Amino acid sequence: MAHPAQIVIFGANGDLTSRKLVPALVSLARSKKPEEGFVVIGVSRTLKTDAQFREELRAAMPADLVGAFDEFAQRIYYQAGDVSNERDLAALSARLNSMSSGQEGGRLFYLALKPDLFAPTVQHLKNGGLLHMKEAETSSWRRVVIEKPFGHDLSSATSLNRALHEHLREDQIYRIDHYLGKETVQNILGFRFHNAIFEPVWNRNHVELVQITVAEDLGMESGRGGYYDTTGALRDMLQNHMLQVLALIAMEPPSTLHAKSIRGQKVSVLQSLYAPDPQTVSKHSIRARYTAGAINAEPVPGYREEQGVAADSQTETFVAVRAEIDNWRWGGVPFLLRHGKRLPKKFTEVQVQFKTPPLQLFNHPEGVTDEEFRLKLRDGSLCQMRPNVLTLSIQPREAITLSFGVKTPGNNMVMAGAKMSFDYRDRFGQSTAPAYERLLLDALTGDATLFLGADEIEASWRFADAFAQAWAKPDCSPILEYPAGSWGPPEADDLFHGCEGGWSRG
Ligand code: BG6
Repeated sequence: MAHPAQIVIFGANGDLTSRKLVPALVSLARSKKPEEGFVVIGVSRTLKTDAQFREELRAAMPADLVGAFDEFAQRIYYQAGDVSNERDLAALSARLNSMSSGQEGGRLFYLALKPDLFAPTVQHLKNGGLLHMKEAETSSWRRVVIEKPFGHDLSSATSLNRALHEHLREDQIYRIDHYLGKETVQNILGFRFHNAIFEPVWNRNHVELVQITVAEDLGMESGRGGYYDTTGALRDMLQNHMLQVLALIAMEPPSTLHAKSIRGQKVSVLQSLYAPDPQTVSKHSIRARYTAGAINAEPVPGYREEQGVAADSQTETFVAVRAEIDNWRWGGVPFLLRHGKRLPKKFTEVQVQFKTPPLQLFNHPEGVTDEEFRLKLRDGSLCQMRPNVLTLSIQPREAITLSFGVKTPGNNMVMAGAKMSFDYRDRFGQSTAPAYERLLLDALTGDATLFLGADEIEASWRFADAFAQAWAKPDCSPILEYPAGSWGPPEADDLFHGCEGGWSRG
């Protein structure tokens, strides 16, 4: 009989455990029922009993999962301890071995910890003999999930990769980016490589521009200010989630769906991102911080007034970048990326904007001669209608929309915009599973496709570092401001050139 896996969560008292991991595991146990089942062991320094831990988790459970939690709760345990202490480590090891799942089943160690604890924790686990497994072991496997942020820059990410590789083989390391667990993000691969009609136009010959937005109305809720102030929008969102979405949009077709094949194609794109030099960074990017304003008509404080944030903080809460991918498919096509906290609403979206036809036959403005019209189009003083935009809505709406031009009924050839749409909910009648549920299932079953490789992370940092380092220089243009509840500083619009259009508002 197969043994249930043990999921050992370090950082058991943190927000991530109660808000994301345990609900995902409860839902997984309820719906997917992985064959062997699993138990959860929370580890943290605070002393408490299994019963107390379960009670706390129950209180944080979304209402629709409380029933399933009650069924699952007997499989949740708590072990107080600090793995840097030999006695505590031995006690943890003994407890894990004594459980019915014991040594024979697989073990997933989830590091929901502060980033500076990733490498030391792995080292302690290794020293305590908890990571030992034979290569290609299928039952008593040992895997480690590393949460973000994976490093603070290229050099720290490289050191962390090196430290992990001292104790683990690459196939034991699961670097998580929860965006890859989102159904709509995975669908980028499906949409691109299952539908042959888009592939011939998915390149610089037909695409004028790609824009990716991750807008959030949240600020520094749940006491995040202290952490965020050492991170900022570039490191918190753009370096990881947004570059992963960009990589899926821009990568070459993989030859299989195996982790190696997909990661290999993503890393090529990330390595082709042009990293501007410090003198030109301000032409390619905008950074800003929110000031006091209103969200849904409710007043909210400015970033510098948030709890845990330094009064003279220089951390950005908004970042917009005009990126370029220097390869044959994408050379010359701008990829505009934008993320901000305290924008008017939450939405994540990709827009692939196709080129306008070479000859504008329709919608000739009144009072402009043919010759003037021609000249204005050529010099960019009159922008053409942009009929074809493919919008991949990632969240909260989960949809795909293609816009195109149609003739308005009547005697004249006047074209108007129209849309073809697909919506997950309409088509499949249910909302998609939360990202962590899918990723935890994959980690349990040993499928690393939706996790990040060391080289992807390093390539993303190389790009992000170009901006972070230039912004840190005293002669760099100062950080801008925008009122909470606005769409960010107007200067971000200047990242669009000529007739390229502007930022989506979702
Ligand atoms: C996290 C960031 O990784 O992603 C947060 O640290 C951000 O700052 C969150 O709010 C956004 O995730 P989602 O799934 O709500 O878009």
